[in-house]
Amino acid sequence: MKKIAILCSGGDVSGMNAALKRFVEYAHYHELIPYFIQDGYEGLIDDSIIEAKYEDVAGIISQGGTIIGSSRSQRFKEKTFRKKAIANLDKKGIDGVVILGGDGSFKGMQKISSEAPHIRFSGIPATIDNDIAGTEYALGVDSALNMIKCAIDAIRDTASSFKRAFIIETMGRECGYLALVSALTSGAEMCIIPEKEYNIKTYEKRFKKEILEGRSYFIAILSEAVNKKEEIKNWFETTLGIEARISVLGHIQRGGNPTVHDRLMASHFVTYAINGLIEGIENRVVCYNNNGFGYKPIQEVAFQHAKIPKDLLDLMI
Ligand code: F6P
Repeated sequence: MKKIAILCSGGDVSGMNAALKRFVEYAHYHELIPYFIQDGYEGLIDDSIIEAKYEDVAGIISQGGTIIGSSRSQRFKEKTFRKKAIANLDKKGIDGVVILGGDGSFKGMQKISSEAPHIRFSGIPATIDNDIAGTEYALGVDSALNMIKCAIDAIRDTASSFKRAFIIETMGRECGYLALVSALTSGAEMCIIPEKEYNIKTYEKRFKKEILEGRSYFIAILSEAVNKKEEIKNWFETTLGIEARISVLGHIQRGGNPTVHDRLMASHFVTYAINGLIEGIENRVVCYNNNGFGYKPIQEVAFQHAKIPKDLLDLMI
């Protein structure tokens, strides 16, 4: 191994820059030449591959997003464009590629790795959704959760002042992980996610009793996948007689200063990815489970459905 490259694919997360910094520094430590592939698989197709220098990563550890850009490439699904991508890697003599992304990105990695057996690939789970099978943790989740926590804490101030119900929608695509953990750690009164059925009559009974006992405002966290914010807002107003507002947190969840946890996880993930490439553990995804890191075949990660752990779901009452 002489030259290794890294790219970010799919939704950016806070912690990607910390990973890029570690990548450059750890590659140099092993006397490998590091390269950045800009704008994800799009840059791989368009030959936006540049040698990465120390100065490129100076001061980036505290920045959210990714300095090398990301994309969701449609072109990469086509073999002709993947052929171009492989030719670009060959032209530069790159023998290892680290890919940060989610399951869609790993599906792309599975394709290119089978078409370019002379190049080693390693995946790092990175998505705020925490919806990747085979790993308990994906880079960026903690930063997103902390961003959501700050937003809910701020909304609580106005909710309590105005005696309103706030319906707060979190991201997560099809997965309710962000909503569930946010609801549990923010003391929300209601949480609706696709992974757990809910009974609106039970909520009605409980909330009416609480209102009689003095509760004056409510925080409801809804995962974007359930798509019920209007319905729940109307329910609060008509059934409970509480004025309600909707707050869609949106893309602020993806940005901001990465937490200490994500900075540290970025270092671990990249270290395992590079060590794996050097040792010949190719076409694997670095996974984090039971407080430790390991490598899993792409098939076990990209082609399975992630589940929220039962003990976490059971915390929801
Ligand atoms: O996968 C990350 C994510 O932020 C999801 O939670 C969300 O549904 C989606 O990306 C939003 O995508 P975009 O940035 O393309 O609007």
